[in-house]
Amino acid sequence: MNKKQTCIVRGDIGFTALVCVASMATLAGGARLFWGKDAAGFFKGWVRNPLQIGAPAPCSVFVAKEITKHVQRCVAERDLTDMTPLRVLEVGGGSGIFSGKLEDILQEVELPYTLDIIEIDAGLANTLQKRFVTNEHIKVHCLDAADWNPDYKYDFIVSSVPFTNLDTVTVERILTNYRSIVKPGGFISYVELMWFAPLKEMVLRGESKEKFVDKLNTIKHFREQFSVEKVDVWMNVTPAHIHHLQIS
Ligand SMILES: C[S@@+](CC[C@H](N)C(=O)[O-])C[C@H]1O[C@@H](n2cnc3c(N)ncnc32)[C@H](O)[C@@H]1O
Repeated sequence: MNKKQTCIVRGDIGFTALVCVASMATLAGGARLFWGKDAAGFFKGWVRNPLQIGAPAPCSVFVAKEITKHVQRCVAERDLTDMTPLRVLEVGGGSGIFSGKLEDILQEVELPYTLDIIEIDAGLANTLQKRFVTNEHIKVHCLDAADWNPDYKYDFIVSSVPFTNLDTVTVERILTNYRSIVKPGGFISYVELMWFAPLKEMVLRGESKEKFVDKLNTIKHFREQFSVEKVDVWMNVTPAHIHHLQIS
């Protein structure tokens, strides 16, 4: 190879490396815009226990916006002389995409509030604890949502617990708990990935199928008593239904 050819090859390698770095930076930037800043911890949690995590990726910023909209509306409409703390519970904190959004909303105006975040995975809970350590209104608790027993009730529950992956008894315990810890008139908003349940139902056979259908019916029965709105969010992996329930 003569000197000119060597320069061309080096130039090609340099250009390719530059394109690779630029593509990776674009992908990382895009992922951050789509999933927020703490998505890496979510994927580590996924490796530890995919069934418990229950989704192929963190929820997107679009899901976060939809699922927190009633909290946003309440804060916007709130009487600023009312000093009763607004109480919000997030269940299944995960990557913290909803937690960050809730913190932004609740800090918008100078209102008293508390935000409890429940996360069963110790690694994810630990990351959330570090992230919110300087905010005295936010407390992260590492436990099963079915066992959370606060001595006050909530105005809002925002939940991303993967009901379709949990056993029926746990689902029933969590739903009964939600019902008892939300104030009358309070909201429960939860996310359900769009195609998981029908696909799983199609694949399962025999007793496992019966149990799964029973569980879906338990969730449906709870939802239908209180449902006020169901919104589909397509910009998510996978697209998701957001259910908003109001406890009468
Ligand atoms: C689908 S992920 C979504 C988390 C978060 N919204 C996000 O997008 O990163 C569900 C989360 O619920 C947590 N989880 C599952 N079962 C739970 C339970 N019984 N109690 C509390 N958290 C639970 C999982 O560890 C996981 O972090």
